[in-house]
Parts: sequence; C-alpha cells; structure tokens
Amino acid sequence: MQAAQPLSTPLTQRISDAQLLLADVAKRFSPATLASSLAAEDMVLTDMILRTGLPINIFTLETGRLPKESLEMLDKIKQHYGVEIETYRPDPAAVDEYVKNHGLNAFYESVDLRKTCCGIRKVEPLKRALTGKRAWITGMRREQSVTRGELDVQEYDSAHALEKFNPLAGWLEGDVWDYIQTFSVPYNALHDRGYPSIGCDPCTRAIKPGEDIRAGRWWWENADNKECGLHVQPVEFRKP
Ligand code: ADX
Ligand code: SF4
Repeated sequence: MQAAQPLSTPLTQRISDAQLLLADVAKRFSPATLASSLAAEDMVLTDMILRTGLPINIFTLETGRLPKESLEMLDKIKQHYGVEIETYRPDPAAVDEYVKNHGLNAFYESVDLRKTCCGIRKVEPLKRALTGKRAWITGMRREQSVTRGELDVQEYDSAHALEKFNPLAGWLEGDVWDYIQTFSVPYNALHDRGYPSIGCDPCTRAIKPGEDIRAGRWWWENADNKECGLHVQPVEFRKP
C-alpha cells in the first residue's frame, strides 16, 4: 500500500454522508446490524461504526467455507478495535443432508444446487441474524455488478420485513481503498492477491486485469444471475 494522500472533496463528502446515515440509523432504527462479509467495503463500515462507538451490532455469516484470510479478519478486528464480531453458522443437519444427497461441492453442477447451498449456508443463518432487528446495513455498491446498478441507499426489505441501508451505494472502488489507507483500516489479505470481491473459498477466485469486479465470484455462472439470495428482490425504494 502507498502512503495516504489527502482525501478529495467528493470523498470527504461521501464519508460524511455515510457517517451521518449510520448515526441516524443507530438512532432511529435501533437495534440495527451490519452484515459483514469481512471484505473491504464492510471494513469501511465496520471502521465507521467502531471508531465512533455507534450502537450498531456487527455480524458475519460464517458459512463453513470461508477462506482462511476471511477468518483471520475476525482476529484482526478484535486486535484493532477490541470488539468481537458475532458469527452465525449454518444448521449442521441441513449441511450434512446437502452433502449426503448432492456432495460437498455440488454447487458447481447447477444454479439450483448452488442456490440451495447458499440457502443453507447463508440465507437461513441471515434470517436468524436479522430476527428482532429493525434495520440492516450492507456494504453493497452500485458499481459492483449489473444486478446492483439501481441500488438505493435506503430500501425496504420485504423479504425480511425491515429497513435496509446501503451507505456505500454510490462509492467507487477507489473511494473504498482511499478510506482504508487514510484510516489504516485492517483488510482481508486476499485483496492484495487479485480478489476485489470475496465470498466462500470454493466459489471465489482471483480476477485478471480488466475483468469485472465480481468476475471471480461463481465464475462458471452467468453474470446476470450472480446473487446468493442474501439480497433478494423485491426491495422497495424509500426516501431517507
Ligand atoms: S454476495 O453476493 O455474497 O451477497 P458480496 O460479497 O458482494 O455479495 O456482499 C454484499 C454484501 O452482502 C456485503 O457488503 C455484506 O453486507 C453482505 N454479505 C455478503 N456475504 C456476507 C457474509 N458472509 N456475512 C455477512 N454479510 C455478508
Ligand atoms: Fe455454498 Fe458457494 Fe454459496 Fe458458499 S458461495 S454458500 S460454498 S454455493
């Protein structure tokens, strides 16, 4: 990483907007929670929450297939901020049944089997993580994929019946890294090895120069389809 440069005016404004939004969510939608994949965008939000002591819970879905570099983030966060991230794990019986019926890595065989695996390892644990919450926060950005081009900062998530906030919706990849550099935020080691987007180990690979940010996620599937079920439609737009 290079030495931190002074922040540009547009980024300073984006940071201030995101921080104000998080403070407002903490105040108006308590209890609120941040879903963290332990990748760069979520570390920006984690830093904003923990450095300013906002009363927003942070959890990760520990799918059982995360790369070791993501798991190492749990310790890095604890060392840096003195805070433990809550972890939600899949139901072991559902995992066993999937593996017995289809095989451990059956997600490569069809979109259906991939979505079933994501359903067991991510979507069901997410339901538990959101139970009793009034809002959840994600690190999604519009620029990340065709499926996120219309993403709003605030939405109503009718699948989980609660408000959903995407404070970094309008951020560019460079903004994320400028923030991480400026505030010395710990980050996932895979980002330095060609992984702009990080999910489960068997379903994520490094990208080549010029490839799309999410080209390394479920790379064997069509780009229009690459969502894991955490961010299901319909989600209605609501004015902040
Ligand atoms: S996704 O398709 O896996 O959802 P991505 O990795 O781009 O895509 O993550 C988008 C957002 O979903 C993250 O910023 C985070 O809020 C949430 N998310 C993704 N994976 C996890 C996870 N394992 N645990 C908690 N939240 C997650
Ligand atoms: Fe399963 Fe891959 Fe989805 Fe992880 S990303 S839950 S391993 S299909």
